[in-house]
Amino acid sequence: MSTTFLLPTLLLAALAATATSLTLKPGCRPSCGGVDVPYPFGIGQGCFLPGFEIVCDNSRPILGNTKQAIEVFVLSLSVTPRPEARVMVPITWQCFNSSGDAIKWSISTVNYNRAGVYRISNNHNELVVLGCNTFVYTNGGPRGRSTYTYYTGCAAYCDNAQSARDGDCTGVGCCHVDIPPGLSDNKMRFSGDPDWKNPGMPFSLCDYAFIVEKGNYTFQKADLKMDLETSKPLRLDWAIRVNNGSSLSCAEAPSMPGYMCVSQHSECVDSTNGPGYVCNCTEGYEGNPYLHKGCTNLNECARPREEYPCNGVCYDIDGSYDCKCHLGYESSGDPKENPCNPKFPLPARIALGIGLGVSILVFALLLAFIMHQKRKLAEHFEMNGGNILKSVIGLPIFTEKDLKKITKNNSECLGNGYFGKVYKGTLPDEAIVAVKSFIKVDKDRIGEFTEEVKIQLKMKHPNILKLMGCCLQLDVPMLVYEFAAEGSLRDILHWKQNQKLSAELRLDIAIGSANGLSYMHSEDIRHGDVKPDNILLSDKSIPKIADFGLSKLLNPGEKFTKKVIGCQGYMDPVFRNTGILTSKSDVYSFGVVLLELISRKKVEYGESGSLIIEFRHIYETKKSGRSLFDEEIVAEKDILILEEIGKLAMQCLKERLDGRPGMKEVAEQLVKIKENIVHTTATTLR
Ligand SMILES: *[C@@H]1O[C@H](CO)[C@@H](O)[C@H](O)[C@H]1NC(C)=O
Ligand SMILES: *[C@@H]1O[C@H](CO)[C@@H](O)[C@H](O)[C@H]1NC(C)=O
Ligand SMILES: *[C@@H]1O[C@H](CO)[C@@H](O)[C@H](O)[C@H]1NC(C)=O
Ligand SMILES: *[C@@H]1O[C@H](CO)[C@@H](O)[C@H](O)[C@H]1NC(C)=O
Repeated sequence: MSTTFLLPTLLLAALAATATSLTLKPGCRPSCGGVDVPYPFGIGQGCFLPGFEIVCDNSRPILGNTKQAIEVFVLSLSVTPRPEARVMVPITWQCFNSSGDAIKWSISTVNYNRAGVYRISNNHNELVVLGCNTFVYTNGGPRGRSTYTYYTGCAAYCDNAQSARDGDCTGVGCCHVDIPPGLSDNKMRFSGDPDWKNPGMPFSLCDYAFIVEKGNYTFQKADLKMDLETSKPLRLDWAIRVNNGSSLSCAEAPSMPGYMCVSQHSECVDSTNGPGYVCNCTEGYEGNPYLHKGCTNLNECARPREEYPCNGVCYDIDGSYDCKCHLGYESSGDPKENPCNPKFPLPARIALGIGLGVSILVFALLLAFIMHQKRKLAEHFEMNGGNILKSVIGLPIFTEKDLKKITKNNSECLGNGYFGKVYKGTLPDEAIVAVKSFIKVDKDRIGEFTEEVKIQLKMKHPNILKLMGCCLQLDVPMLVYEFAAEGSLRDILHWKQNQKLSAELRLDIAIGSANGLSYMHSEDIRHGDVKPDNILLSDKSIPKIADFGLSKLLNPGEKFTKKVIGCQGYMDPVFRNTGILTSKSDVYSFGVVLLELISRKKVEYGESGSLIIEFRHIYETKKSGRSLFDEEIVAEKDILILEEIGKLAMQCLKERLDGRPGMKEVAEQLVKIKENIVHTTATTLR
């Protein structure tokens, strides 16, 4: 047990030694009886500066270098910031017999100050005299006008045994007086004048005098019979000086050998009580300036704020400290002296806080909204078959954002398609496009829809409207097609009545359309809704077949029939009866388109309400469609063209499927008509 216990004790001792080493000479006892003994005080040979010896007698620190008979017990010793020794000094007294003659007295002078380093602190002590008919004074200092420079004292008198009062030291049984600086001893003089005798006063058999720390002594009547062995606390100032008149001041000392302020960051301070000087650590340092490296940095921040003020955050630095305001606070000057105020006054801070809160809320809402939008986009994408279509090669898939850019936020509406508006747009490569909304795709239709898109993408023919891409992030898919600048054939035939249409152009339109449909049929695709609305014309009047394959996506009896009711004029009666769509149904519808092309009349026409019936009638009766042709066409050769087209149309409109030519044949026939005309024209020219 002892070893384990010993080790920490030794460690502690070592630590204590290092901690106090800066106030001590190496190898000297740091304390005696609980009293620290800092250099220049010291115990034992070589540990003290001459005059500063402390004798440690059975753990009782005694001021050394005094008259041996009287012990001056040491209470505390300090070096900085005030050089001081607090000691207990025996009181001085004299006692009388009943006739008032002094019969015994103490040895009046302690002479505790042989080396002359101490002065009785005039600031912290006072002279107190107790007695009932006595005058006591002290004197000191060098010789002046009289034997000494200073004399001070007071008189105490009691009229009777009851005169003195506790706590009242104003001349009755007790008096006190301040002392001058420069007193080096407690020399007391009891007046020898016979007037100051104490005859026949059993309540006051002795007079007492002592210098005591101010505030320590309060008069008690009972003290008029005080114990003669009493000691009183007294504070001594000390300085580096000698008592032979050759003490140095700070004016000379630093340049003289034996200068005592040896520590760095130390300075010389002239003694304020007697000659000589003391050493002090400079501002910002603490410790013992009488030792090498004795002055060390003072941590001002660990001190009370009253000593080292700081209205903000305190930072200790070597020899000083910094003071900065807390974050968000500022001071109009140095925060050591000036208060730190909030940079923003409270209302501003509240406003800022609210502003910030609102911004965060708005931001959060915005974020939630964006997330929601994103989720919606992703949902639509998936619902619209995006996961299937994204792997289709050659199909650009636009994001909703792309699309907005392409259509400039749907700024230019071209008209209405089957399922919604059609917008004009421009691709990044400057190609002009038409953006159409498509039918709403639900779970059951994903397969059909994606199949349809794939087919449309596959259809690559100059007379088929080209699919340029799609966007699947909206609730309905948007399809992007090449732009047909001149609009639909219907528009040209029936809306732009004043736009002239030559017979040859009509023939070219017929040929192009037939080629497109024929190519489609060769790929085993049926259009299902051939009509002038679905034949678009490019800026060079090249016909483009559009909106094919839609019928497949429409549930029979649903939207299609409703929409198509108006287009019944084009519907193959066989398809209407059987519900089976064949390529010959497209041929029938194309026949109607041809009739419109040559007559520039709408399909609901005439008394019968049907252009087909009207044409059938005149072909049966007059073997010519001439009376129904567009009156704009007047040249005989042009009328011939229309006549040929009309005849071909009648073929297409045959009731029986097998009576109708195939689409390929129709195209070939039309080309032949053109060749014949060219031939004829050529011969005419020749
Ligand atoms: C008191 O002391 C003085 C001087 O010693 C002496 O003359 C005197 O008789 C004494 N008085 C009494 C009452 O003993
Ligand atoms: C006077 O000083 C002594 C010694 O330090 C102390 O014990 C005592 O309590 C003090 N008395 C007063 C009233 O301060
Ligand atoms: C005064 O005393 C000091 C040391 O006690 C000594 O060094 C010095 O010479 C003395 N001076 C005089 C003038 O006696
Ligand atoms: C020593 O310095 C401190 C401040 O650094 C000061 O408060 C103190 O009064 C000084 N002591 C003397 C004796 O001048």
